[in-house]
Amino acid sequence: MTTNAARPDATIAVLGGTGPQGSGLALRLARAGYQVVLGSRTAERAEVKAGELRAAGLTGVTGTTNPDACEAADVVVVAVPYDGHDELIATLAPHLTGKIVITCVNPMRFDKRGPVGLLAGNSSAAEAAAELLPHATVVGAFHHLSAVSLNDPDADLSGHTVMVASDDEDAADQVAELARAVTGNLGVCIGPLRLNRHLEPLTAVLISTNRRYRTHSGVALVGVPDGPPLRR
Ligand SMILES: NC(=O)c1ccc[n+]([C@@H]2O[C@H](COP(=O)([O-])OP(=O)(O)OC[C@H]3O[C@@H](n4cnc5c(N)ncnc54)[C@H](OP(=O)(O)O)[C@@H]3O)[C@@H](O)[C@H]2O)c1
Repeated sequence: MTTNAARPDATIAVLGGTGPQGSGLALRLARAGYQVVLGSRTAERAEVKAGELRAAGLTGVTGTTNPDACEAADVVVVAVPYDGHDELIATLAPHLTGKIVITCVNPMRFDKRGPVGLLAGNSSAAEAAAELLPHATVVGAFHHLSAVSLNDPDADLSGHTVMVASDDEDAADQVAELARAVTGNLGVCIGPLRLNRHLEPLTAVLISTNRRYRTHSGVALVGVPDGPPLRR
């Protein structure tokens, strides 16, 4: 692998960067000094959102179409709804060859009892992306950071754990390092991408808790030593 996701001069594309989750991640990444390209199905929407972020002092943010954002970037964050996710990823596959693709997509459904994971332990959006992107390296991360907190420039995210799942341990290490730009802390490499079957639906627990306590809850793993995992 040639890309280093956490390299200080890396360019990071955020697909769905016009939405709250994508723009919140973009805000944090740009604030840490990364060049960020917001992707959208419409270049104009991405340019408008990028202009808002630049007006807030985040000069390294631009906006364009999703394919052009992929082409411009070393690392691509997928922050689109699960509806339409597979179609979008399949369309963008030629633009993602050789790249690290980070997904924070949480397939969810809601009924009168509240939210529940749509795929619930059997599969995951991340694994679907990996199937569709045989020439990219897919990493699951940033599933449990609320968009509201990400977009609040004063919100301290240092108590949150970013859990990172990938079949490529080198890519996982890089994304764990990139998590520092978002929360201030090294992410935790939890293991292979199939663990996304559990990461993604865990968000239903957070949303249900948020509704009951009127808050923006997150996840903190305790007992994990600082530094990379002792895996090899
Ligand atoms: N919101 C949160 O707090 C949160 C927290 C953790 C993870 N997530 C995950 O992050 C992802 C984005 O969340 P969000 O709340 O920002 O979502 P969103 O506002 O519904 O969508 C984000 C952007 O995705 C694009 N989009 C919408 N439908 C699409 C489709 N069918 N195909 C391709 N692009 C589409 C839109 O951008 P354009 O119209 O400009 O293309 C939209 O602005 C979701 O998968 C969610 O599960 C969200």
